[in-house]
Amino acid sequence: MPGTVVVGAQWGDEGKGKVVDLLAERSDVVARFQGGNNAGHTIVTGDQVYRLHVVPSGILYPDTLCVVGNGTVVDPGGLCEEIDELDARGVDLSGLRLSGNAHLIMPYHVMLDGAAEMRLGRFSIGTTRRGIGPCYQDKAARVGIRAQDLLDPKILVRKLEVALEAKNEILDRLFGLPRLDPEVVAEQQLAHAERLRPFIADTALLLDTALRDGKQVLFEGAQGTMLDIDHGTYPFVTSSNPIAGAACTGSGVGPTLIDRVLGVSKAYVTRVGEGPFPTELDDEDGRRMLERGNEFGTTTGRQRRCGWLDLVALRYAVRLSGVTEIALTKLDVLSGFKQVKVCEAYETREGERLVEFPYHQTVFHGCRPLYRSLSGWDDDISGCRRLADLPAAAREYVETISGAVDVPITLIGTGQGRHEVIDEVELSAARRA
Ligand code: GDP
Ligand code: IMO
Ligand code: MG
Repeated sequence: MPGTVVVGAQWGDEGKGKVVDLLAERSDVVARFQGGNNAGHTIVTGDQVYRLHVVPSGILYPDTLCVVGNGTVVDPGGLCEEIDELDARGVDLSGLRLSGNAHLIMPYHVMLDGAAEMRLGRFSIGTTRRGIGPCYQDKAARVGIRAQDLLDPKILVRKLEVALEAKNEILDRLFGLPRLDPEVVAEQQLAHAERLRPFIADTALLLDTALRDGKQVLFEGAQGTMLDIDHGTYPFVTSSNPIAGAACTGSGVGPTLIDRVLGVSKAYVTRVGEGPFPTELDDEDGRRMLERGNEFGTTTGRQRRCGWLDLVALRYAVRLSGVTEIALTKLDVLSGFKQVKVCEAYETREGERLVEFPYHQTVFHGCRPLYRSLSGWDDDISGCRRLADLPAAAREYVETISGAVDVPITLIGTGQGRHEVIDEVELSAARRA
């Protein structure tokens, strides 16, 4: 079966965009299945940097079909901007398809996201304020607006009237924000509709047909396992399921059509936004990761929190998504540390040693990391493309991780560039030797 899911194995920003772009060279279709423009996926080719938010990371290959699936939430204005920017840079967008069932982020979702964060004050989640949560809320409450509604102006106004009846009360009475006129909102959205109309399609059918024809289909996750609304560090999570299982519901294909799950993990950990993070560093080592890794958010520009690799969380991610192989990115950032550490287990407040991720948030909040230290390496490994060219300590670091989570590491990132990677062919040859 030719379906491969690429999932973030941490708190997002693991380098999924780069990995998907790399694999897309040998794929026919790339499909996003959850999230929206809270995502920021970076692709670097030569001197060109592309920052994608909703458009799948296969778009740089003109023959690759790029699907924005039913499980995503799409800001029509944001998507039009993204399309226009890519178009202006000469990117061929004829392969883009948007599911008619994808939910649309409306202006009131963005307003409510910001207002809810303000109201939470010091308990805020640190969302990207793109309206993601409120849009998924409306989807579940069955008052959402979908991409297909853009094709029917009468229905669009009717649905906006229903949705705004309650929303206007909340905007006005709870948050002191202006009420919105359904006709005005509809007019704004219909201006985007003309631009988006050619892309709207039955993407579930398209994906199923591609898979049954033996085409290679990549499912591109956004966010990461620890931000999963069911399994992540709730409530400091996003409002969708970034784990591999969601590739099925979020795109409309059955699980039997997927046979490979690639988990993407940095060689260390970062997190943007609030919430617990056991291996977070507030010292020189953390600052070094921040600087060398240029750890600033692609979407909001916020500084990312940095820490040592957390193997307890990584094992959890492997388990939740049935990860069959790992892409370990940004190994180059760890060059120059005297020692590198990995968190092998947690210690609870009561002194218990945990190797499995605790299900109870009170326990998790009280966990402290138990580290294993390994030798660092001084050599600059930027752009390194062969396993044999890595210093022995770097190889040992990779092997330790792979051994601890019991999954092969088939890709190692050694730089931002598309080809700054030690790839699977190389690694499988190394394993055979
Ligand atoms: P995504 O959201 O998972 O696609 O990740 P982001 O694009 O938000 O953040 C990852 C950042 O790391 C981007 O700036 C990438 O260009 C960069 N990156 C990805 N892989 C590597 C790598 O192996 N080495 C280095 N130095 N940078 C990388
Ligand atoms: P990519 O796809 C990192 C975080 C936000 C916040 C929480 C909820 O680039 O890996 P939301 O706006 O989704 O309601 O915010 O989730 N978050 C991300 N962190 N990478 C992302 O996407 C993220 N998308 C959302 O910072 O903590
Ligand atoms: Mg990102």
